[in-house]
Amino acid sequence: MFETVISGGTVVSEGHTSRADVGVRDGKIAAIASPGGLEDDAETVVDATDRLVFPGFVDSHVHVNLRLGEYTTTDDVRDLTRAAAFGGNTTVIPFAIPDADETPLDALDRRRDEARNEAYVDYSFHGCLTETTDEHLRQIPQLIENGATSIKAFMVYADRLKLDHGQLRAVMRRTSEAGGSMLVHAEDDDIIGFLVERQIRRGETDFTKHGPTHPPVSETAALWTVSELVADTDCPTLLVHTSTEGTGDVLGRVDARGLPIVAETCPHYVALSDEVYARGDGENFVCSPPVRAATHRRAMWNLVTDGSIGVVNSDHCGYTTSQKRRHRDDITRMPNGLPGVETTAPILYTNGVATGELSLQRFVALLSTNVARAFGLYPQKGTISVGTDADLVVFDPNATWTIDPETLHMATDYSPFEGTTVEGKVESVFVRGDPVVDDGLTESAGHGEYLRREPVSEEVYEEL
Ligand code: URP
Ligand code: ZN
Ligand code: ZN
Repeated sequence: MFETVISGGTVVSEGHTSRADVGVRDGKIAAIASPGGLEDDAETVVDATDRLVFPGFVDSHVHVNLRLGEYTTTDDVRDLTRAAAFGGNTTVIPFAIPDADETPLDALDRRRDEARNEAYVDYSFHGCLTETTDEHLRQIPQLIENGATSIKAFMVYADRLKLDHGQLRAVMRRTSEAGGSMLVHAEDDDIIGFLVERQIRRGETDFTKHGPTHPPVSETAALWTVSELVADTDCPTLLVHTSTEGTGDVLGRVDARGLPIVAETCPHYVALSDEVYARGDGENFVCSPPVRAATHRRAMWNLVTDGSIGVVNSDHCGYTTSQKRRHRDDITRMPNGLPGVETTAPILYTNGVATGELSLQRFVALLSTNVARAFGLYPQKGTISVGTDADLVVFDPNATWTIDPETLHMATDYSPFEGTTVEGKVESVFVRGDPVVDDGLTESAGHGEYLRREPVSEEVYEEL
């Protein structure tokens, strides 16, 4: 007997796209059979005729309760994971960034405490190193033992988070020795710092200067640096939120050298261009790296469709429009980041699958399978296979809707994609077999469980 059978949908998972019934027992996928084959054995049948059935999406780049500058991001764990669920994400991996005077392990413990009984979907955390004292470096293996097998480092945000090249190399070496992996925010702080200082001297620091002070070269130069550090330390590394045309050259060279590097991009880098900064509400689009010129957007899109980009994540980072507006004249104080955990799938589906530029297989790889593989969650997550967690998304490919912050669930009053008409809609979402979204929330907070992740081998990063 199955608790639930998702019946007659087109199941899309690695290596197969075919109509099938999916039978769920004890939170796991217990059987996959021809359409109609399992219905008679089900307590509950979910009719998925004319629907796509995806493995739950995994968003490994989301910020929750991020304290940076004068603001804390607006979503708490409930808000974030509720919005994530409505977007089809059944797992999220935020960052355990230490506060001043906090160690990385203390930050992980604090984050786990904050999330306990609060999450709608499953979750894990990336560890984070913002200092390289002996104590902090010594904690890397302990973070990994506690299931935070990936470590985040920032090359920018000098006031609190930045590691210089020497520190970054030390963290990568220690992480590699301990069997972990890294995520790096790669921007060159010297280039950015010089340009920002110049704007301050000129007295021109409004939000329209954010892009010019973070030029493509500041990102590309940092990507080259990180790739050399990966070669030096053998540390599997994910390049977060890549946004420039130069990413293609770096990844080409990375591939030729067989380096264990995976690149991420985000919906705003492939669906928006810097025209947004000419809008009256342009400050709402300030993020780092900035939304780039159309040539970069097109180049990034080509890297998504040709397989060079391994994962697409939201980099969800929620602020309200009034917070964004407050310092619109001061790029040194403006909060950076865009809300998006709920809109990644429809934006990627609309731009890619609906236009015929992205196969369903690749869509699922970018949002689910590759992310699960890169972060030690596969095959428990990221696939529809017998024995794995029944994390499933029933998606209506024929639904058309317009993105409206009023109907979204993120803890903010805007979306960078507001007014965009999208094709395809998440209809229902199951986490370990239980419906979390089905015409509204159907589970309570606390359903989500902490995932102690496995370390990932260099080979996985070489393959992705
Ligand atoms: O602007 C961004 N991306 N804000 C969030 C923090 C980060 O750098 O990922
Ligand atoms: Zn970043
Ligand atoms: Zn981020």
